[in-house]
Amino acid sequence: MWSRNLRTAQLQKKLIYAQKINFYRSTETPAQSVSEDAPVPAEADAKVEKEIKANPFLSKKPATKGETVPFDDIPGPISLRLISKFWGMIPMMGTEITVSVVQYLLSGGKFFGGILSWGGNAPFFKKFFDVYGPVVRLHGAFGSDVVLLSRPEHASAIFQTEGPYPIRSCLESLEKYRLQCRKYRQAGPFLTYGTEWEALRKSIEQPLQSCIELQFDEIEKINESFLDRMYSIRNKQEEMPNNFKTEINKWVLECLCSVTLNRTLGFLVPTGLIPSSDPGRLLNGLFGATNAIRKLEYGFHLWKFIETPAWKSLVKNCDMMESVLRKYIDISKQHLQEKKMRNSPLDKVTLMEHLLLKENIIEDDIMTIMLDLFLIGANATAHTVSFFFYNLARNPRCQIQLYDEIKDSDVSSTPEKLKEYAYLQACLKETLRLDPPIPILSRVLSNDVIINHYRVPKGTHVLFAAHMNNMRQEYFEDAEKFKPQRWLNNYEGGFGNEFQHFASMPFGYGPRSCLAKEMAETAIASLIVTICKRFRIEYNYGDIKSSNELMASPTKPLKFRFIDRI
Ligand code: HEM
Repeated sequence: MWSRNLRTAQLQKKLIYAQKINFYRSTETPAQSVSEDAPVPAEADAKVEKEIKANPFLSKKPATKGETVPFDDIPGPISLRLISKFWGMIPMMGTEITVSVVQYLLSGGKFFGGILSWGGNAPFFKKFFDVYGPVVRLHGAFGSDVVLLSRPEHASAIFQTEGPYPIRSCLESLEKYRLQCRKYRQAGPFLTYGTEWEALRKSIEQPLQSCIELQFDEIEKINESFLDRMYSIRNKQEEMPNNFKTEINKWVLECLCSVTLNRTLGFLVPTGLIPSSDPGRLLNGLFGATNAIRKLEYGFHLWKFIETPAWKSLVKNCDMMESVLRKYIDISKQHLQEKKMRNSPLDKVTLMEHLLLKENIIEDDIMTIMLDLFLIGANATAHTVSFFFYNLARNPRCQIQLYDEIKDSDVSSTPEKLKEYAYLQACLKETLRLDPPIPILSRVLSNDVIINHYRVPKGTHVLFAAHMNNMRQEYFEDAEKFKPQRWLNNYEGGFGNEFQHFASMPFGYGPRSCLAKEMAETAIASLIVTICKRFRIEYNYGDIKSSNELMASPTKPLKFRFIDRI
């Protein structure tokens, strides 16, 4: 009974979803026959050769100029095409399962005779692209297929035609927690779409920007607290402990609280956090929820049928974060009340107060907004700071050049001043190019799009491997190297064509791009200036990579050595 209700609810949801984006697909074209003389790449291993021979799509003739090739001609793993017939019989396993199975396989799952299984450190999607070419189709149930891409020209085709209401394929577990479990009326700015999303986004974007300007001095103080904390945890070799990433997370959360609540919660107290304190619960809730989402979004979505340990962990940790935030919503309400009673001007209010003043926003909306800002913002920013330190440590010449640029900067800077440090900004761009914290961008196409001659119909899910895109030699000479100078105006090594703009998009693109880009850039730049003026950074262990997870993280402890400059 329970599962039938759930199934009906899921089907209804899909129907509404399909109607919203208007994606009823036109007729299917018949499957193609295998050509006798299908080419076999010389270096392909035996399994790959077998797959290629068995895959009719790999034997196609090239399209002539201007010719449009039907969607069904896009190559892809035959095993998924066959299995999609099975998925088609199980309505609950729709497109999201295709996406999540792909992610599971990419993260090391062992399926399909090894053709689709590789270790977590392999570059995203590389094996698919190596076997099938730059456009890969994965068959899903309901005709809701997934197309994989990784080239700037393809990004341009998708993002420039996406219209005012782009849709991304969502984090279903978080959506279920919010809409079904907690019965909120919307799922938060990262997950909603259409006019609902537009209204939410409008209510956050501009106030967030004003708040970062108002709170800039406070962020500089938080940087000083971070320095104090670093002194208190540094060992005799001037090295940070294995869990230094947690300290970076604390710094981000403190900045986020300052910007959204106009208060610091004490994440960076020199004596260390008490787990039962408000900041302790927010931090642990963030870690727990992030890990749970990573587990729930990979592989088969068993949690849709039974309460798995990861599902329970998501609920527990989101509840924990919410109980802390609920307290600060109440405090903000009280502050507003007092301000109104005193007839104080309401122009300089915090983001939370700004949201409370909006008539069309209710308390539950504020909760999902705040949680999205914390979940997406804290993870992405901490990842970027981690790799910024790493790149400077691994590239001492770049570190010297950066130090020369910032060493005479004022004690208290401004967001505008930070933008004038060209080399600092170049180092940030280069860090985000090499290790983007959100390594895959996703969309559900709202129009038919021509990609590489293929007509990809609206409604198709597209996963864009941003990390692979960023490593294209045509656009970035010595692409695997940290070379901040490539971002400076006078640098002449770039490709400079019409697609250059899409060659690195760490904050995404278009109306759905990151709504806190300015805030993140300002906070990161101010921290780097503070740290680099005080320390020289070294790292003496094995290479650190970014994990290929949904929300990426460094693969090794950040045992950086921070050596005093004086
Ligand atoms: C260096 C740090 C950051 C990076 C690289 C980053 C990157 C991204 C990317 C790639 C997206 C998806 C864009 C797309 O689909 O086109 C995104 C969306 C988003 N980010 Fe960020 N982000 C960062 C920091 C932050 C911070 C600090 C916050 C919150 C304070 C935040 C909040 C959001 C939200 C709410 C969305 C969803 C926007 C929407 O759907 O309208 N991000 N971010």
